[in-house]
Amino acid sequence: MKRISLTQYLVEEQRSHNSIPAELRLLIEVVARACKTISHSVGKGALGDILGSANTENIQGEVQKKLDVISNEILLEANEWGGHLAAMASEEMESIHPIPNRYPKGEYMLLFDPLDGSSNIDVNVSIGTIFSVLKAPDGMGEPTEQDFMQAGSKQVAAGYAVYGPQTMLVLTTGNGVNCFTLDREMGSWVLTQSKMQIPAATKEFAINASNARHWHEPVKRYVDELLAGAEGARGTNFNMRWIASMVADVHRILNRGGIFMYPADLRDTSMPGKLRLMYEANPMAFIVEQAGGAATDGKNRIMDIEPHKLHQRVPVFLGSKDEVVRVTSYHQA
Ligand code: AHG
Ligand code: MN
Ligand code: MN
Ligand code: MN
Repeated sequence: MKRISLTQYLVEEQRSHNSIPAELRLLIEVVARACKTISHSVGKGALGDILGSANTENIQGEVQKKLDVISNEILLEANEWGGHLAAMASEEMESIHPIPNRYPKGEYMLLFDPLDGSSNIDVNVSIGTIFSVLKAPDGMGEPTEQDFMQAGSKQVAAGYAVYGPQTMLVLTTGNGVNCFTLDREMGSWVLTQSKMQIPAATKEFAINASNARHWHEPVKRYVDELLAGAEGARGTNFNMRWIASMVADVHRILNRGGIFMYPADLRDTSMPGKLRLMYEANPMAFIVEQAGGAATDGKNRIMDIEPHKLHQRVPVFLGSKDEVVRVTSYHQA
């Protein structure tokens, strides 16, 4: 099979009836190049002084890892000067990052989780980068956080890089989901999977089961049925996986099905669950839906949620449609 590069794929997309604008194509190329740079840093490990804590805290109240900060800087520096963006937002930055006046501004806004799965950095387990692209509102002046408050259904592109045994880039611009593998010798992203589809049924679930005592009733009921296996109401056995890097769990689900859950729980006071809507749940929901899966917050479609805060959190149930529909129905009961 003749393999094509990300560049050729995007040019063909631009020419086809899907006609993604040249500006969006160029922006995606810049983000992909930045992910290559992050992958290079990740691969150095202890040899590159990228492990361990940065001894600073982010707006999430998390102690930042060095690689959280490094990957954030890589994405900012790569995207500032290209002229495709009006502003950026990141898990690692409290407020939005307008493009400096010395550079031309563009019509897109880029949001990202620069390093997803930070607790896995120092133990050599797969981690990643998640990104989401929105259009700047027409007639926008100086960008504000309010300009980013757009539902996930407004995304024009979303993707993630997963830094694992291979470095891969998974991308959607609303016309299906494609996966590119980094050819390290040539330094290019090569199309290796097209039109990825998530099986509607699955026997595999992903949840951090150590939180079970805190779960609300619908989640308890759903997971207990999975644990009851063939002897229980579901009449079949299930398997569990939990990598604690959302990108890696989602990548597995994209390839062989499964349901990923990070529910709200009884401990939540100010915000529900752990995952952030704008740069984790929304981009992953876009990808999952484009691959025939589903993504809800237990009650509503994630991409219908009207955001009100840049770093707001949301419960997440996503993956194989049959299972997401089932666990969501348990929340309606
Ligand atoms: P991040 O490292 O960007 O803060 O995200 C980590 C998230 C997500 O990647 C993962 O699914 C989840 O945290 C794991 O949470 P637990 O450690 O509570 O299992
Ligand atoms: Mn994350
Ligand atoms: Mn992160
Ligand atoms: Mn984090």
